[in-house]
Amino acid sequence: MTVLERFSLSGRVAIVTGASSGLGVAFAKGLAEAGADVVLGARRVDRLEETRKLVEAEDRRALCVATDVARQPDCQALVDAAMAEFGRVDVLVNNAGIGTAVPATRETVEEFTQVIDVNLNGCYWMAQACGRVMQPGSSIINISSILGLTTARLPQAAYAASKAGLIGLTRDLAQQWGGRKGIRVNSVAPGFFESEMTDQYKPGYLEQMMERIPLGRKGDPEELAAAVVFLASAAGGYVTGQTIAVDGGITVT
Ligand SMILES: NC(=O)c1ccc[n+]([C@@H]2O[C@H](COP(=O)([O-])OP(=O)(O)OC[C@H]3O[C@@H](n4cnc5c(N)ncnc54)[C@H](OP(=O)(O)O)[C@@H]3O)[C@@H](O)[C@H]2O)c1
Repeated sequence: MTVLERFSLSGRVAIVTGASSGLGVAFAKGLAEAGADVVLGARRVDRLEETRKLVEAEDRRALCVATDVARQPDCQALVDAAMAEFGRVDVLVNNAGIGTAVPATRETVEEFTQVIDVNLNGCYWMAQACGRVMQPGSSIINISSILGLTTARLPQAAYAASKAGLIGLTRDLAQQWGGRKGIRVNSVAPGFFESEMTDQYKPGYLEQMMERIPLGRKGDPEELAAAVVFLASAAGGYVTGQTIAVDGGITVT
């Protein structure tokens, strides 16, 4: 096998949650470019249909499933639909997430709980459902954040807790499933990438953060998709339990 062949996902089936906008679209496209058929989950099915076109443009098959990852039965139904259509699940990209910035003394129970329900619990429900059917050689990639590792001058207790929790979940599932099931579990901690989530920042915030980034710019979603393909494929075959920051170096400052 050549080194580039190790990155191939030909014949593989990947699930991407949150594939209706932003980074999830780039992950679905990147996985399809690497050869995978892709199962797309999110709440906005009309937007998933747009992602479907990108996957099919790579001559790969796509399946769209309305999914609210905060609801465990929806997560199980997404994996069941993937198994019914393709008969296997090799890759899970736990990408669905919501971002909030609320001062801690003002944050309501509902606001905090919703972020944990989607960003952390949703990843666990998806991983559980996939872990029951995945074969040895499969790979789970949790999309955490640099907010799981550091701060970014915004009040983000719920978001930071959910993303740091996801790094703990990654570590634990890696040690539970590595030897016994042959499933690798890693996470990616993105820095700043333009998306509907970052569109919510106040004017000037991103420019201010750029000064903290050694590479001095935002990331390109394709650069993140490449890291996901590495972890999903045989190229990352000896990597498990890790969190890879793809952040222009911000976490070393
Ligand atoms: N962009 C960045 O700079 C950055 C940095 C660090 C980490 N991240 C992480 O990257 C991931 C993707 O974020 P993004 O920047 O691409 O933001 P985005 O454009 O807002 O995308 C978020 C995605 O998550 C889905 N989603 C939200 N709640 C959901 C739910 N309950 N059930 C199912 N899907 C749900 C949304 O789909 P529906 O609304 O259709 O359900 C959407 O597809 C998130 O986990 C985020 O925390 C992003």
